[in-house]
Amino acid sequence: MYLLLLFPLLFWVPGSSVPITGPEAVRGLERGVLTVQCRYDPGWETYRKWWCRGAVWGSCKILVKTHGSAFGVKERVSIWDDQTNRTLTVTMKELRREDTDTYWCGIERTGSDPGFHVKVTIDPGSSVPITGPEEVRGLERGVLTVQCRYDPGWETYLKWWCRGPVLGSCKILVETNESAFGEKERVSIRDNQTNRTLTVTMKELRREDTDTYWCAIERTGRDPGFPVKVTIDPATTAVLTPTSAITSTANAFTVPDTPEDTTGFLTVTSQHSDGRSLLSSTRFLLLVFLEVPLLLSMLGAVLWVNRPLRGSGGGSVSPALGTSDQ
Ligand SMILES: *[C@@H]1O[C@H](CO)[C@@H](O)[C@H](O)[C@H]1NC(C)=O
Repeated sequence: MYLLLLFPLLFWVPGSSVPITGPEAVRGLERGVLTVQCRYDPGWETYRKWWCRGAVWGSCKILVKTHGSAFGVKERVSIWDDQTNRTLTVTMKELRREDTDTYWCGIERTGSDPGFHVKVTIDPGSSVPITGPEEVRGLERGVLTVQCRYDPGWETYLKWWCRGPVLGSCKILVETNESAFGEKERVSIRDNQTNRTLTVTMKELRREDTDTYWCAIERTGRDPGFPVKVTIDPATTAVLTPTSAITSTANAFTVPDTPEDTTGFLTVTSQHSDGRSLLSSTRFLLLVFLEVPLLLSMLGAVLWVNRPLRGSGGGSVSPALGTSDQ
C-alpha cells in the first residue's frame, strides 16, 4: 500500500503534480513593478524557495533564493516566503522589455526540485503623458510660442517650462500657479485645462536662447516631461532661407484654432508660405524678364523677316505685282 503511494513520487515530473502552483502567465509594464505569487502545499514551509529564469526547467538560471529568514533580494528581484500562508511572493522592479521570459517558482530539496512555470510578459511602458513639438525655431528679437498637450487626468497638476538637456537637472524658467498661469521675465506659461494644452511664450528672443527645453508636469517622484529643441535663428538669414526643417516642424504639429495661441507656429507657417510666394514671384519675374523679351524678340524677328517682302517692291517673290505696276 505504502509502496503504491510512493511509486508516483519516484517518477515525479516537474510541472505535472507539483506541490507549488502559481499564475500561468503574468504581465508587467516597462519601468514598472511586477509581483508574482505562488502557493505551496503544507509540509514545504521550511524549505528554501527560489525564482528561476529560463524556458527549460533543467537549465534555468536562479535569480534569487530565500535564506533562513525566508527572504532574499538580488539586484532588481526580491523573494519573500510567507510560511504562515504558504505563499511565495516574487517582486521584480524596474522592468525591462527583455525581462519577458518563462520563470519558475521552485522549492529546493535533494533530488529534483519541484517547480511551477510562470510566463512573464513585459509590455511597453505607458508613454510620457505630455507631448509637444520636437523642434521649434524662432527669430532673434521675435516671439516664440510652444504648445504641449497632456493626457486626461493631469489637468490640476502644476506645469512648468524648464531649460537644460536633462530633465532632472534643468532650470525651471516659469511655472503655472493655481490660476494655471505663470510669468517670469521674458517667459509666460498658460495651462488650458479644457483642451489640456500648455502654452509657453518666449519673447524678445536672443540667439543664446537656443537650447533644449522641457514641457513638464509636477508630481511627487519623477516628473514626466517632453523635450523641445528650440533654435533661435539670426533675424536676417532666417527670412532669406525658409528651410525644410521649418516646414517639417510646422507640419508635425497641429496648430490650434485660437489665433492668440498660434503666434509661434503662425510665424513658422507664414515663413513657409512666404517661401512659397517667394517662389511664385520668382517665377513671375522670370516670366516678365526672360520669357516676355524672348517672345517680343521672336515677334520682332518675324516682322523683320516679313518687312523686305513688302518694302522691296520689285522682289523676286512678287514679280507679277511689280510688273503690273510698272
Ligand atoms: C481653452 O481652450 C478652449 C478651446 O480652444 C477655449 O474655448 C477656452 O477659452 C480656453 N480657455 C482658456 C482659459 O484660455
